[in-house]
Amino acid sequence: MKITVFKDERTLARTLAAHIAATLKETPDLVLGLPTGRTPIRLYHELGTRHPDFSRATTFNLDEFLGIAPDHPGSYRAFMETHLFSRVNLPPDRAHVLNGASPDPEEECARYERAIADAGGIGLQMLGIGTNGHIGFNEPARELAARTHRVTLKASTRRSNAALFGGDARGVPKEGLSMGMATILQARRIVLIATGKSKARCVALVVKGPITTRFPGSFLQLHADVELMLDEAAAGGS
Ligand code: GLP
Repeated sequence: MKITVFKDERTLARTLAAHIAATLKETPDLVLGLPTGRTPIRLYHELGTRHPDFSRATTFNLDEFLGIAPDHPGSYRAFMETHLFSRVNLPPDRAHVLNGASPDPEEECARYERAIADAGGIGLQMLGIGTNGHIGFNEPARELAARTHRVTLKASTRRSNAALFGGDARGVPKEGLSMGMATILQARRIVLIATGKSKARCVALVVKGPITTRFPGSFLQLHADVELMLDEAAAGGS
């Protein structure tokens, strides 16, 4: 695992935005996997300022809440529209986010897997990490799902997403849809970003913890091309 530590969040976001811009120049039809959460916001705004050419790129978001429409202000689709899609020239029909309002969530998951395969697989998967080790909505559990699936969210995950629902965790949907561990691990390259002291313990477990379904981020140790981009606070425990 390659680990790069930056002096602050801003430098991390700028460097990663420059890396993505360079990758897009080299590979204009890049397929990107994208996370939500507070961590990637600076990166997305940085990309919006730089304007790399996304006109031939395709993106797939990691996850979405189940039971809310794409235009619901708390949806990850709405988050992506606000922070990235409205700021770059990515064609709307190639900006994929799972549809949390699908009448048939299982079919929606299968459709998403087919769409990723039809796009040629994910070239660069960006990830954040939850403090409990979740990746996307792959929560710690006795077993992890390989493919895109329906998932029950942990109380801690609902709390950390409360800001999207007026600050009240009770308003956060109880379920989500998420890429599975195999969907993520089949990306050709993975970049995980983590910032702040609250992530130091889980970053250390990603890097050198045992590989366990109780800490999904530990599975990244099985991938041959993973880079962790951290600020000094998040790197503190590793
Ligand atoms: C959410 C998302 C994850 C994200 C995590 C961390 O639950 N489903 O994909 O990595 O939160 O969020 P943050 O960056 O706000 O710490």
